[in-house]
Amino acid sequence: PTRPYVIDEMISAKQIAARIEELSREIAHEFSDTDKLVVVGLLRGSFVFIADLVRELDLAVEVDFLEASSYGNAMESSREVKILKDLRGAIEGRDVLVVEDIVDTGHTLFHVIGLLKARKPRKLRTIALLDKPSRREAPIKADWTGFEIPDEFVVGYGIDFAQRNRNLPFIGKVRFTDDG
Ligand code: PRP
Ligand code: MN
Ligand code: MG
Repeated sequence: PTRPYVIDEMISAKQIAARIEELSREIAHEFSDTDKLVVVGLLRGSFVFIADLVRELDLAVEVDFLEASSYGNAMESSREVKILKDLRGAIEGRDVLVVEDIVDTGHTLFHVIGLLKARKPRKLRTIALLDKPSRREAPIKADWTGFEIPDEFVVGYGIDFAQRNRNLPFIGKVRFTDDG
């Protein structure tokens, strides 16, 4: 049970698709000498973005997933990042692209990058659909960012509010309707 809210569209499905086309060209260029790229989605939020991104990538890819949760059902980061589900495959010597839906405080991506670097990939790059730079606590910036956004509570395109609204095809802004 949460406070009542409505969702105002912030970034349309069309805008997202257009940005993914641009990003995928840059990524294909960066990994043009890669035999088979390992694309790692951070569950659960990245599942929509990674699905659209890999279908635009003109590269041989493997898809793997890692679940690192810091938020649970709360709105604030606990700053404690737990690995709930590890990769299926080894990444030593491989070229890896980590796909995240949103970088907020940065603790999740910072922790995951540290963990994966220790496994000695040949090349490790990161992409986040959304970035909220004003919220940053950990010293991290994704190599590619879809959109920089202000400090709004966003949902959709994989991103949840208390596990809801992940299936919206666009990025929306939560607006509470029970007061001010
Ligand atoms: C959300 C989001 C990012 C992370 C960003 O995940 O999907 O992974 O928080 O926050 P941070 O930069 O402050 O660490 P969450 O932990 O809610 O799990 P989910 O992906 O399963 O929703
Ligand atoms: Mn997440
Ligand atoms: Mg979440």
